[in-house]
Amino acid sequence: MTRYVYPEALAILEPHADVDYHDSRDGLDSAALRARVTGVDAIVSQLTDPITPEIMDAAPRLKVIANVAVGFDNVDVGAAMERGVLVTNTPGILTEATADFTWALMLAAARRVPEADRFVRDGRWRQWEIDLLCGQDVHGKTLGIVGPGRIGRAVARRAAGFDMRILCHGRSSLPDDMDAEAVSLDALLASSDIVSLHVPLTPQTHHLIGARELALMKPDALLVNTARGPVVDEGALAEALASGRPGAAALDVFEDEPRVDARLLECPDVVLAPHLASASGATRMRMCTMASESVVDVLNGRQPPHIVNG
Ligand code: DGY
Repeated sequence: MTRYVYPEALAILEPHADVDYHDSRDGLDSAALRARVTGVDAIVSQLTDPITPEIMDAAPRLKVIANVAVGFDNVDVGAAMERGVLVTNTPGILTEATADFTWALMLAAARRVPEADRFVRDGRWRQWEIDLLCGQDVHGKTLGIVGPGRIGRAVARRAAGFDMRILCHGRSSLPDDMDAEAVSLDALLASSDIVSLHVPLTPQTHHLIGARELALMKPDALLVNTARGPVVDEGALAEALASGRPGAAALDVFEDEPRVDARLLECPDVVLAPHLASASGATRMRMCTMASESVVDVLNGRQPPHIVNG
């Protein structure tokens, strides 16, 4: 186990394995991790641990890498395939928590909640004023979902209560019960008031949203990213916001976490969070226990339910 997990996850593994637990919130660097994995059958990794071919080669007995996340861009899945190592993830259980947080960001940015909070705490509130901290409506607007997979659809479901038109773009087909229109990415960007990103990070989605795409967005549109930072060209976004198109952004993920472009830190039209979308206590604990269960499955010759390279 490469770093701190909820204790329940350790308790699941201990009856089945000798656990080498790096009980720290700070990860191991590559050399230290290589030294730690020489005799292991399984690695329980987190999205902050790059699991490279070199790490795998240092662990000749390795059978499974159980990543405590739905995303697995930190693991070289191709290298794992070549070495016959299974890679598992934790899909499904974090869908609703991530969709909830996407909405929290959306509403916070549209209605300027963080700015309002700072305003009150700073003692700047003198009186009710007709145009004080006015934001954008969310209800009745057009929501564009880029990547209508599990999480994208959960975000779209919540929009029904806000009477929104929904546009989708992505590889997944839309369920029949979802009242949404499938459109090209360009059409989605040009027509949506809020664009929410829900694609995995792959070579195809790296900088999917760059300067050209941002320029297609409406001037007062809001871009929400709870997917992976590198899906958006962060430098291009900072420039685009400075020039007023799109009008605002709500970001939970960044290109080089935990570093955030200084221009975004200074921009009042951006709401920032430190990669929290799945962070309800119950969800994060279940992510940890699910990863342990996958390892137990493999150690006992069973097929774990969520193999990404099987
Ligand atoms: C995931 O599971 O990929 C999330 O980014 C973790 O919050």
